[in-house]
Amino acid sequence: MLTATKREANGSRHILGDTDVQFIADLIHSETGVRLNHTKKTMIQARLIRRMQTLRLSSLDEYVSYLRHSPDGVTERSALVDILTTHKTDFFRERHHFDYLLETALPSLHQPRYHGGWRLWSAGCSTGEEAWTLAMVLANYFGEEANWRFRILATDISEMVVDRAMKAVYPRSVVETIPFEYRRFVMHGRGRQAGNIRVVPELRKMVTFNRESLLDPASGGNEPFEIIFCRNVVIYFDRDATALLVKRLVRRLVPGGYLFIGHSETLDSNSVGLQPVAPTVFRKT
Ligand SMILES: C[S@@+](CC[C@H](N)C(=O)[O-])C[C@H]1O[C@@H](n2cnc3c(N)ncnc32)[C@H](O)[C@@H]1O
Repeated sequence: MLTATKREANGSRHILGDTDVQFIADLIHSETGVRLNHTKKTMIQARLIRRMQTLRLSSLDEYVSYLRHSPDGVTERSALVDILTTHKTDFFRERHHFDYLLETALPSLHQPRYHGGWRLWSAGCSTGEEAWTLAMVLANYFGEEANWRFRILATDISEMVVDRAMKAVYPRSVVETIPFEYRRFVMHGRGRQAGNIRVVPELRKMVTFNRESLLDPASGGNEPFEIIFCRNVVIYFDRDATALLVKRLVRRLVPGGYLFIGHSETLDSNSVGLQPVAPTVFRKT
């Protein structure tokens, strides 16, 4: 049993002072655009305690000083981004977006102009479910594999999630979230992979994953996109970062291209040259 003094010492090792909370929040903001405020202190502390233990450091003070002063501190920022950003996602998350894409957006686009076909971007792709869902919907739209004329770029700032997304391996339970008609695009693992599913190789060829920050003006490359999904990303950004990103995304769309955002996100569409066409779906004018 811990004595009172030990308990106290243990407790203070696990508490971040306000200055350190501000330092961590500012670091995350400058790396990602995500604004964490003081109401997130408990969450920040809990996640940093796990990280501090992994690094075998003995207190949060030591962890913050490692971040600030150690030569490894710069690389540690990447781990910090992994643990302090929210990665929740699902296959066919907000199903109405994929119905709209299949039934309305894709038929309204000009036939693919580029050699590789339509270009889609899952911006802030987390562990890949959104990009794989797009690939399933597009493959379904085109039918035979020989007719697939699309490419998908999927990007996220977190190395940890991009690595997982590229593997395209998920627990078997996710099949429940994939509508029946799309289940042919996953295969069931055997042996050591029993209990997992994997996206089929034909679809895996259609998606490229990159670790990139959306704050980087070069993110997404140079070629324009017909469709951009940037969902549940700017919800964590402050106003300025959101406005800047939305402007850049619109610039990356072809005229008549579509931007899909998350259900609890809003944007001032007119001022950036977008027309709302369905809830949380916009078309470039
Ligand atoms: C909640 S997930 C959303 C995943 C998916 N778009 C969806 O709606 O299901 C948000 C993702 O945005 C990523 N993210 C946050 N800031 C970013 C930035 N500046 N650049 C790229 N990705 C970022 C996070 O790492 C996280 O994986």
